[in-house]
Amino acid sequence: MHTGAASDLPQAFKHRFGREPELFRAPGRVNLIGEHTDYNDGFVLPAALDLATFVAIAPRADSVIRVHSLNLEAAFEFDLNTPQRPAHDWSDYIRGVAVELMNSGYRLRGADVSVFSTLAMGSGLSASAALEVAFGYALLSVSGETIDRLKLAQICQRAENQFVGMRCGIMDQFISCHGVEGAALLLDCRSLDARPIPIDPAIRIVVCNTMVHHELASSEFNQRRRDCEDAVARLAAKLTGVSALRDVSLLQLDEHRASLPELIHKRARHVVSENARVLDAVAALEARDFAAVGALMNASHESLRDDYNVSCPELDLMVELSRRAPGVYGARMTGGGFGGCAVSLVAAEAAEGFAAIVGPAYEEATGLSPMIFSCYPGAGAGPAHL
Ligand code: GLA
Repeated sequence: MHTGAASDLPQAFKHRFGREPELFRAPGRVNLIGEHTDYNDGFVLPAALDLATFVAIAPRADSVIRVHSLNLEAAFEFDLNTPQRPAHDWSDYIRGVAVELMNSGYRLRGADVSVFSTLAMGSGLSASAALEVAFGYALLSVSGETIDRLKLAQICQRAENQFVGMRCGIMDQFISCHGVEGAALLLDCRSLDARPIPIDPAIRIVVCNTMVHHELASSEFNQRRRDCEDAVARLAAKLTGVSALRDVSLLQLDEHRASLPELIHKRARHVVSENARVLDAVAALEARDFAAVGALMNASHESLRDDYNVSCPELDLMVELSRRAPGVYGARMTGGGFGGCAVSLVAAEAAEGFAAIVGPAYEEATGLSPMIFSCYPGAGAGPAHL
C-alpha cells in the first residue's frame, strides 16, 4: 500500500511510462442529507470534497489502455477493441467507464494511465465515483472528445450499474462532476436540476470516518432498491401518477399502509420522510436556522437506522459521540451505510475542538482510530495542478 501524496503522481507516471502526462482530478463527496433518495427520483444535498482521485494520462498510438494504481501498487491493461467482462475488482470502474463511453458513441484512444487517490476505497466518500469520473474525463480529453458534465455523470453511473453491478443512483457521479466551491448542491434526481446552497461561514461540515466497511454493503444496497420498487408497484396499483416513491406523500403512505408488507412500508417511510427532510433542511439552511438543520440530520439518522436498516453499531456510536460534543447541531451517517462516515454540522468556533473530543472516545470504545476532518466544499472534476 502506497502512502505517498498526490504530488508524487507525475513523477511516478514518468518513471513508469517514460513520458510527460496530462493531469486530471475528480472529487469525492459528503452528503449532508437525502440518503437513499436518489434512486427514488428524490432530493439530495451533497457537497464535493477536496479529497479526490487524480489521473495522470498520455494517449497511445494503439487501442491499449494500461493502468497503474499508486495506492494499490497494482496494474492491469486491456484493449478497447476486445469485449470486456467484469473482474470484480477496482479495474471494473475503469473498464466499465471505457465500455459505456464507447457504447454512447465516443471514439476513444488507447492511453497510459496512473491513478492516485486521497479517498480510501470503501470509506463511504464515493471513491469509486471519483475514480470513474476522473478516468472518464481524462480519457475523453486525451481522445479529443468533448462531453457535457451531466452526460459524463450519467455514463459513469451506467458503468457502475451495468458493468460493476451496483445499482447506485446519480448522486455521487453528479456531484463529482458538478461540485461548487463553498456550496452544497440541492439536486432534484428526477429533473436533474441542481441549485447551489452556500455553506454559511458560521458552520462547519465535519466528517468522521468509522474506519469500518461491512462487506454486505453492495448486496444490501441492491436489496433496498428492490424493496423500493416493490413499494412503488403496490402503491401504483392504488394511486394514480405514482412512478417512484418521490410521488408519494406521508399521508398517502399512511392511508395505504395495509397494502404494504411491514418491511416494505418501513423502507418507503424512510424514503418519503427523507425527501421532505431535504427540502426542510435547505429552507432552514437558507434561514440560518442551524438548530433546525441539525434536528433534521438527527431524524435522518434515526430513519436510516430504524426504518431503512442501513446503519451499523460503529456508525451509531460515532453519531452518538458526535452529538454529545459541544457546538454540534446534529449528526448522521452519510453515504450508503454499513460503515464509512458520519457527518456532523458544527458551529465554526467549536469545530477545532471536535476531533479531540470525539476521536479518543470512539477509539476507546472500538479500538479503531477514526479519521476526522472539516470539509470545505470544492469544485467538480477538471484538470489538476500538482
Ligand atoms: C451510495 C450510492 C448513491 C446513493 C447513496 C445513498 O453512495 O452510490 O447513489 O444511493 O449510496 O444515499
